[in-house]
Amino acid sequence: MLLAFGLCVVGALAEKTLVQRAASFSKNVSDCPGYSLHAVEATGTGLTAQLSLAGPACNAFGTDYQNLTIQVTYETETRLRVRIADSEDSQYTIPESVVSRPAAPTTSFTNSSDLVFNFEPSPFAFWITRRSSPNSAPLFDTRLSALPETPIPPVITGDESTALDGFSLVFEDQYLQLTSSLPLDTNIYGLGEVIASSGFRRNLAVGGGSIQTLWTRDVGDPVDGNLYGSHPVYLEHRFNETTNEAQSHGVFLFSSSGGDIMLLTPPNAKQSLVQYRMIGGILDFYFFSGPSPVAVIEQYGALVGLPSWIPPWAFGFHLCRWGYTSVNDTMEQVQAMRAANIPLEVMWNDIDLYHAFRDFTSDPVSYPGEEVRAFIRDLAANNQHYIPILDAAVPHLTNASDVYAPYSKGRELDVFIKNPDNTEYIGQVWPGYTVFPDWFANATQEWWTEAMKNWSDGGVEFSGIWLDMNEASSFCQGSCGTGANLNDTSVPSVQIPGTPGNPVTDYPECYDSSVSGPSGNITINGTSTCTNSSSPSGLSVRGLGAGAQSGVDLNSPPYVIHNGFGDLSVHTLATNATHAGGIVDLDVHNMWGLMEEKATHLALQELQPGKRPVIIARSTFPSTGKWAGHWLGDNYSKWEYLYYNIQGILQFQIFNIPFVGADTCGFQGNTDEELCNRWMQLSAFAPFFRNHNQRGAISQEPYRWDNVAKASRTAISIRYSLLPYWMTLFANASMRGTPPVRALWYEFPTESELFAVDRQFLVGADVLVTPVLRPNVSSVEGIFPGRGQVTWRDFYTHEVVKASSNGTATLSAPLGHINVHIRGGAALLMHAQPAYTTTETRGGPFSLLVSLESHSNAFGTAYLDDGLSNPPAESRTVTFSSTANELKISSRGTFTVDQKLEELTILGVSKKPSKVSVGGKNLQKSSWEYGTDVQELAISGVSVDLNSAETVVSW
Ligand code: GLC
Repeated sequence: MLLAFGLCVVGALAEKTLVQRAASFSKNVSDCPGYSLHAVEATGTGLTAQLSLAGPACNAFGTDYQNLTIQVTYETETRLRVRIADSEDSQYTIPESVVSRPAAPTTSFTNSSDLVFNFEPSPFAFWITRRSSPNSAPLFDTRLSALPETPIPPVITGDESTALDGFSLVFEDQYLQLTSSLPLDTNIYGLGEVIASSGFRRNLAVGGGSIQTLWTRDVGDPVDGNLYGSHPVYLEHRFNETTNEAQSHGVFLFSSSGGDIMLLTPPNAKQSLVQYRMIGGILDFYFFSGPSPVAVIEQYGALVGLPSWIPPWAFGFHLCRWGYTSVNDTMEQVQAMRAANIPLEVMWNDIDLYHAFRDFTSDPVSYPGEEVRAFIRDLAANNQHYIPILDAAVPHLTNASDVYAPYSKGRELDVFIKNPDNTEYIGQVWPGYTVFPDWFANATQEWWTEAMKNWSDGGVEFSGIWLDMNEASSFCQGSCGTGANLNDTSVPSVQIPGTPGNPVTDYPECYDSSVSGPSGNITINGTSTCTNSSSPSGLSVRGLGAGAQSGVDLNSPPYVIHNGFGDLSVHTLATNATHAGGIVDLDVHNMWGLMEEKATHLALQELQPGKRPVIIARSTFPSTGKWAGHWLGDNYSKWEYLYYNIQGILQFQIFNIPFVGADTCGFQGNTDEELCNRWMQLSAFAPFFRNHNQRGAISQEPYRWDNVAKASRTAISIRYSLLPYWMTLFANASMRGTPPVRALWYEFPTESELFAVDRQFLVGADVLVTPVLRPNVSSVEGIFPGRGQVTWRDFYTHEVVKASSNGTATLSAPLGHINVHIRGGAALLMHAQPAYTTTETRGGPFSLLVSLESHSNAFGTAYLDDGLSNPPAESRTVTFSSTANELKISSRGTFTVDQKLEELTILGVSKKPSKVSVGGKNLQKSSWEYGTDVQELAISGVSVDLNSAETVVSW
């Protein structure tokens, strides 16, 4: 098998012009000569030029290209593209059909762009500056003079590959290297997917740093290793303490290739650096000028595609687990949630649903199609929804009596990935031997849509789809089915949790079964002395030094990226798996998930015309947000992962995949009562809110413990009352790429004490969430941005926070209470009567919460539509703007809002008004109340028509 494997790889590479391939690679980039630039030509929108190798080829990890072409395009005033490609165009580039980007500019932004491309010809280097601040350090700078002197011994101890021996531009068929200097005190966010031990802000510590490996991987949430998605985009924030100037910009490498992005600060260096080491593709960079962090994220979204429209029901609470043994078992969960009065909006099924683990089926015994249909229709009758899992791989069948249309039809239509010799590529996943859809093949979309339709017609009447295992995951090495007994349906390399010999025994840090028995753990109020929530032991961390691994397969690219599994073909499709048109998986591995998401979105659009598709997917790539949301994968039931949940949400906001959340209460291992309580409350403020659990672990539905049930009811009720706010935030994401969830510093970019804060987050600009992330505590410390200039009011009591001089405050946080604060100056439209489902909630009246800043001003907008149509047919925007004693409600748009605004709460009204009027009519005394303690004017029993062009409320 190994031999066949090797031959295949050579076969695949033969497509490239490698006649001059060196017999051996020097693996030393210090010998690389760089390039010199000539034949510069100004174009209407930028320039083009040629680059020639400036000396003897170094062939460090591949074969140097002699000639490159550079194209610089000022695409907008805020976006600049620098594309460096081999002049023969033989390297892989991402087609428009996979990621479509805006059409080329027709006007010239060369002189108006805030980004300026500067270059020196020999050795060729470029640097990007801001027109608006010409004296600031360049945003990106590849000049050797800007970089530290080499050689530099390993910057990250123990990882030989972080020794730096040269910064020239290297452009080879299998190795592309480009390095830029960064100011020492800069702040970098993004690059992914990762759970970074350093937190949301990436580690650039002096004498260290971090490595982002780009290779999508099915792995249960290790810290600092490459994960399910590949995102070569970062947001950089620079702040000048002296001038108090803060500016953000973004850098995106548009590449599907594997690679390492190194963020390093050598000891004693005057600068940090970012080094791209890619093993294929071209260097296609986009720079975004910001200058605010939110603007950078919007500019990135405008390039790769804005997030899809999310219907309100998707913001409801979702319940899932691996291990619901039957449709009855699943139904019982729905009933138990109702009996406990915990809102349940969407019920899910995992692979338990399937017959023999096969996609597009339901088990005839435990999940008979007609029973599933009846169950889903019951859900629908109660305004609830259903989402089933859809795995990436499709079972391979050989037995003619075994009728399974998705395989036979797929084979007939030629939609599966091949071996280089054109035979079927056969891997192995849950059902045993499997094939994999080839999204590049002509008929794949049609076949996938039809399979989904047949599945739904057979009873599984899904509202949305859960796409799992799409890295794409395969449990065996290479095309392991070739020559094997294909009737064998066992899955030898994987032990299913909860099966004999594989019990789930782990519990959260500090769990002590002697305290409250095996079903849960309440350590709070001093019953446990454990306060430790440091990194859980026994979890895998990055294997440093993958670059120096022995026994590397020679058929793998010579530069060995820091893939956590080592060889690139481990636990996934082999790099030589071949797609239509001869594309090898090595070049497109990172996009398999994206292409499946797009196909599934298009299928849903066809099957549910006019509705907003809801897809939650595991493996993501730039532009996934256009088609799907994401869950953060197989996390652990650990306090540490409760904390990581926040950085995961923030990271995916940068990637323009804002609809994201973690497996609430934790997926791997057993949870406990206290952790689940805190997590249900935190996730109620995450865009996507699902409790999901591993097979074999103790049950963790929120009704299982009284205090978790209570905490969940409280948090979900706040979530549903805030639904108009979420819908507005996500409308802004879909229309402009504005991130719904924000790090605190996005709103306060000159407050450097916020740059590393990732234990709190903002929903929109106005709702600050300060969750408890540790066991056995009844208070939590939070920072309140604004340096005393911003008023933060408690969401529950409406009291103003009294922070200490450094902005922090210790908040009471008994179990079951999550701290939420409203920013002064905010006006939030809410639902007045949060109900069991979002549909019922939306049918009820509205309320308005206004929090005046300094007793005088507040502003807010609400976007309203039918929540269903895609794209929205009609919409309405209502604006609330307040001064000291007046609130103006202005409305414009074509959508008719049926529900009235019946309650208004205005905080920060300095004294009791003598009269209150709405729409010019004085209210009776019984319709309003004034609370002196919290300076609250509460108006009720009114009926404001939100369709009226203007309504004035005065006091
Ligand atoms: C993968 C998914 C997980 C799912 C399991 C079984 O591990 O990430 O969510 O429960 O497969 O389908």
